[in-house]
Amino acid sequence: MEEQAIALRELAGQIAVCPRCDLSKTRTHAVPGEGSPNADIVFIGEGPGFYEDQQARPFVGPAGKFLDELLASIGLRRENVYICNVIKCRPPNNRDPLPGEISACKPWLDRQLEIIKPRLIVTLGRFSMNRYFPGQSIGRIRGQAKRVDDVTVVPLYHPAAALHQASLRRTIEQDFLKLPAILAEALKKNDQPREPEPVQMQLL
Ligand code: URA
Repeated sequence: MEEQAIALRELAGQIAVCPRCDLSKTRTHAVPGEGSPNADIVFIGEGPGFYEDQQARPFVGPAGKFLDELLASIGLRRENVYICNVIKCRPPNNRDPLPGEISACKPWLDRQLEIIKPRLIVTLGRFSMNRYFPGQSIGRIRGQAKRVDDVTVVPLYHPAAALHQASLRRTIEQDFLKLPAILAEALKKNDQPREPEPVQMQLL
């Protein structure tokens, strides 16, 4: 097994028994994430819901079914990308994650991204958008690619929100169709050397 797969598997083992916040007391299962360990694209949702908590897998409920359709619309399957969440354990009654829960869980997501080293990060919903663009309005910046450090980040609406509102559904469908071109750009950027090439000294 390749190094990244091993590292992610080890990390998932640690996440499964994480005691860092009170969600560990109410969860059925932690939900680390799944997909390709060297994916170019990582999708970051909010947190597990009922079905995810039962199955220990991300996006397996109705929002997940819609996410699968959105992926298929650009010729991708789950196995081609990595899918995870800002928080790894389900908040009771699917309430919003608390700031303390998000910060307790942050090192897990940081480490996942360090291992996978994606070229493109797609945030789904405002909690994962906040990780990169705190205080911004999702309605204003959705669908726009921005460079954050050495990676391209695109904030999108959360598929669950889109399921309940027809206009958001069309918006997220259209935003998804922009992802292949954004990824192609991101790959080009990452192919460029990060530092200027050292000037060759001419031997006199
Ligand atoms: N919503 C999310 O944000 N994440 C999941 O894994 C499922 C639903």
